[in-house]
Amino acid sequence: MSAISLTINGRAHGPIEVRDDLSMNDFLREVLGMTGTKFGCGAAQCLSCVVIVDDPDGTSATNPTCVVPAVNFDGKSIRTIEGHARDGELTALQEAFIAHFAFQCGYCTAGFLNEAQVLLERLAAAPVARGDLEQTILEALDGHLCRCTGYVRYHQAVRDVVLADPARYLEAGSAP
Ligand code: FES
Ligand code: FES
Repeated sequence: MSAISLTINGRAHGPIEVRDDLSMNDFLREVLGMTGTKFGCGAAQCLSCVVIVDDPDGTSATNPTCVVPAVNFDGKSIRTIEGHARDGELTALQEAFIAHFAFQCGYCTAGFLNEAQVLLERLAAAPVARGDLEQTILEALDGHLCRCTGYVRYHQAVRDVVLADPARYLEAGSAP
């Protein structure tokens, strides 16, 4: 057993005693009751279970939770699907997912949403040329599996959010 403390969606949790072999996915879902993070393949292959890890250097990246022990997240600051909407108000990305009917069963949605959010933040820090946008979205969402095959709609939703605010996400002079 180990005691872990971490920040989730801006709120401090812990110290909480956990088994050393308890997965982060089980910690979120079973210990904290945060069931928005899904469990799919259990083998780091589908990425439905990813959360956002915010590093002290200001960068963020997604990380699977199914195969990673909760103790590995000790001291970290993470964001989950439950942290996107504020006071019941959806983000532009969430609205775009809905507008595009990007998901059907929704099992993969938390993973796609977290990944796309990281992408948007990366683009806000380092905009890309409009001509590189499609490939940039493709590469960012690559690896996320959707058994309902919503890939194109997820892609379109992310593109819409970027193109709705080109001054923020695209290199100056490259906007459509
Ligand atoms: S459940 Fe974690 S990658 Fe599939
Ligand atoms: S919406 Fe069903 S797996 Fe993606």
